[in-house]
Amino acid sequence: MFSWKTADKPIVALSPMADMTDSEFCLIAKRFGARIVFREMVSSEAIVRLNDKTLEMCKFEEAERPIIQQIFGADPDTMAEAARIVEERFHPDGIDINMGCPVYKITSNFNGAALMKEPERAAEIIRKMKAAITVPLSVKIRLGWSDPRECLDFAKVVEDAGADLITVHGRTKAQGYSGVADWKMVGEVKKRVSIPVLVNGDVHTPEAALPAMEQSGADGTLVARGALGNPWILKQIEEVLKDGKVSTVIDEETRVRTVIEHTKLMIARHGETRGVTLMRKHFAWYFKGGPRSKEIRMRLNQAASLADVEAAILPESR
Ligand SMILES: Cc1cc2nc3c(=O)[nH]c(=O)nc-3n(C[C@H](O)[C@H](O)[C@H](O)COP(=O)(O)O)c2cc1C
Repeated sequence: MFSWKTADKPIVALSPMADMTDSEFCLIAKRFGARIVFREMVSSEAIVRLNDKTLEMCKFEEAERPIIQQIFGADPDTMAEAARIVEERFHPDGIDINMGCPVYKITSNFNGAALMKEPERAAEIIRKMKAAITVPLSVKIRLGWSDPRECLDFAKVVEDAGADLITVHGRTKAQGYSGVADWKMVGEVKKRVSIPVLVNGDVHTPEAALPAMEQSGADGTLVARGALGNPWILKQIEEVLKDGKVSTVIDEETRVRTVIEHTKLMIARHGETRGVTLMRKHFAWYFKGGPRSKEIRMRLNQAASLADVEAAILPESR
């Protein structure tokens, strides 16, 4: 059974991203050596209502394991019941609670980062979820709502309530995505708790993982935006942390092959037109920068079939 305590350190994992870390993207990341993947957040209320679309979002392939399903919500009983349902129906290797999302739609319902303002409620959620499941329970937080030192007491609350791991995004809710992630403050959390801590925020290159890990003393890192259009970064980070340098070099042919593979997976799940349309957000990341990227992106944005995608990106078709 998967355990955060015994997982090989440093832990390098794909961070949850709504609309991005679906089954298909997680499979692609896994193919390039990602060890652990966090799936995008799902609503606890939708799960307990047995909403088909939300339940569908929790499905995964065996090749994605170890896979952690993230859940958001504010009501302890609903969160516990949702966790129980997710474990019983899908058997992920772990469940994560979103206590860091800064988006108004989420925080205005007391979900996500808003829970950092309500430590008692947060603790009750953790206690009840922990009692409802058998797999490890982790919690993803920010430095605080507006004060970056709020995480210090809050992390203790999270640990004492029974969480098995904490991820800290080194920004406050008030910062959103502005400024830079404060990896040293994540290190202050690490000093105060005995459960494993993951540092998150601004690890957008393999090399950035070194100072992030050094400054935080964390047990590993979660990588979000750096993995978009760049799923091999997780393996490259492991290489840098182990040997000080990247040995997996990705050439243009591999990038193109990956985009086609990713598109095929999306088509297999969603059908051709919808699959290709849903790939647009990924195309933008895969072809960000680089020669001819603007022209390729324009052609991809008009693509409606796999043949159109291939014609836009295969060298012989250009
Ligand atoms: C498009 C997008 C969607 C996200 N969705 C989630 C989510 O569902 N759950 C969550 O905890 N964090 C979510 N995040 C936050 C990331 O997991 C991560 O904490 C943040 O982007 C900072 O890490 P990074 O600098 O590596 O991107 C999302 C971020 C982005 C860019």
